[in-house]
Amino acid sequence: MENLRVLFSEEEINARIDEMAEQINRDYEGKTIKIIGILKGGVYFMCALSKRIKVPVMIDFMCVSSYGNSTHDQGFIELKKDLEDDIRYEDVLVVEDIIDTGKTLTYLMEELRTRKPASLKLCTLLDKPDRRVPEADVKVDYVGFTIPDKFVVGYGLDYAQKYRNLPYIGVVEFE
Ligand code: IMP
Ligand code: MG
Repeated sequence: MENLRVLFSEEEINARIDEMAEQINRDYEGKTIKIIGILKGGVYFMCALSKRIKVPVMIDFMCVSSYGNSTHDQGFIELKKDLEDDIRYEDVLVVEDIIDTGKTLTYLMEELRTRKPASLKLCTLLDKPDRRVPEADVKVDYVGFTIPDKFVVGYGLDYAQKYRNLPYIGVVEFE
């Protein structure tokens, strides 16, 4: 069994999301944001964030899966669910739970860029920059918390599909 140690409490997460939303409200004044939530992990954060956004918001979802085990493997990313609508000329904000090696988001942002949105930005609740692989080329516009190389769960993040529903973020400590 694994133990969990609280890294960010629900209160800390809420306070940080308040700040992020304030920044986004300023940056997107006068615009409509198309938020793209990345299934499944990004959804909890996306809901919390979007409820605090004051400019008009539309939402859509994508789901990607990465295969290939170790961090130095090339890995293979599959688009499992695509957007329902076109994003051409829209101001797109991708909302994700965590950026780790950066492979998933490198693939995703490149794919979305080919669809010619008016603007394309990336917002993540957590960032683990120490884990980034050299071939990943991902610019993160909004980061909730920068964390060390630890495995975390909660607030959308899972361990073997469990713990996504925790209202806080915990570090998994394996016995
Ligand atoms: P990347 O392509 O390596 O950046 O992988 C991103 C995906 O790996 C995330 O969307 C998560 O699903 C998963 N992931 C990376 N680190 C963690 C973690 O600490 N806890 C849970 N899932 C993680
Ligand atoms: Mg994910």
